[in-house]
Amino acid sequence: MNDPAAFVRTALDDLRAKVPGNAIVAASGGIDSTTAAVLAERALGDRARAVFVDTGLLRAGEVERVGAFFRASHLAYDVADASDRFFATLAGITDPEEKRRRIGTAFIRLFEEEAARHGADRLIQGTIAPDWIESGGALRDTIKTHHNVGGVPKDSKLTLVEPLRDLYKDEVRAVARQLGIPEPDRQPFPGPGLAVRVNGPVTPERVRRARVANDVVESEIERAVAAGEIARPWQYFAVLLDARTVGVLGDNRIHGEAVSVRVVESVDAMTATAMAMPRAVLTRIAERITRQLSGEVVRVLYDITDKPPGTIEWE
Ligand code: XMP
Repeated sequence: MNDPAAFVRTALDDLRAKVPGNAIVAASGGIDSTTAAVLAERALGDRARAVFVDTGLLRAGEVERVGAFFRASHLAYDVADASDRFFATLAGITDPEEKRRRIGTAFIRLFEEEAARHGADRLIQGTIAPDWIESGGALRDTIKTHHNVGGVPKDSKLTLVEPLRDLYKDEVRAVARQLGIPEPDRQPFPGPGLAVRVNGPVTPERVRRARVANDVVESEIERAVAAGEIARPWQYFAVLLDARTVGVLGDNRIHGEAVSVRVVESVDAMTATAMAMPRAVLTRIAERITRQLSGEVVRVLYDITDKPPGTIEWE
């Protein structure tokens, strides 16, 4: 794609052709799904309705942030509060691929309910090229089991429509800029949310730890960017590891959890480089995480693996 304006014109025609009735848009607040939602609104008006799912796996302040973002983009949306459902379906599951499958199924069942409420038979999703390429499209071996809604099951009444399917992230950002969507360069956040950043069991307690650690990484990196200490990375977050490790609290040895910090530079997420971080920024991150999660997280590591061989998320 070299002309975002031409892409928008074609995408609007395409959406009108593919959506004869009503549609709902799976909207996570990320740049891909927001771009899909704005295109849908322009093409279909009131016939498209954005649905934002509170999975309980979101970052700190995300519901408010996404709401403000949709309002700035002039999008009408519904919030589906489904955290109990997501935690219930993930209870006791440690296999990363099984987690993804279950999250995908929970999403699709929820969207079916929302679609029924709106009399919709189309589900518009912001899938982009790396999502399906890495999900085993184009005859590749499966790298990623699913992208958000892991394919619509055969028994579903919903037909999937994916207006951004052939674009890479930098191209989506150009389209978002063309559409006047705010902050087109903000960092990606995966649809399965903190579940792919909690290794091992996904419990409300462990997600809370991942959320606190993630918030520390985001705020310290943003501070370092604002202070000119580092260039803005592609993505920066924390992962709660499936490890028990020994720490010291006061006069006692305690067992706690470990967090890995991931900061990468990339152009399209197909490859990535672990960022060479100033020691002072990493030290601030480690100090704050272990202080804010005192007695719970006793060790912080920095991931120096590029993609490949590592992926960006740990899963
Ligand atoms: P990986 O971990 O495969 O991630 O190197 C590449 C990029 O994709 C994001 N990601 C996702 N985004 N739904 C999304 O919307 C997903 O299921 C998903 N899995 C990974 C990841 O954050 C990174 O930017």
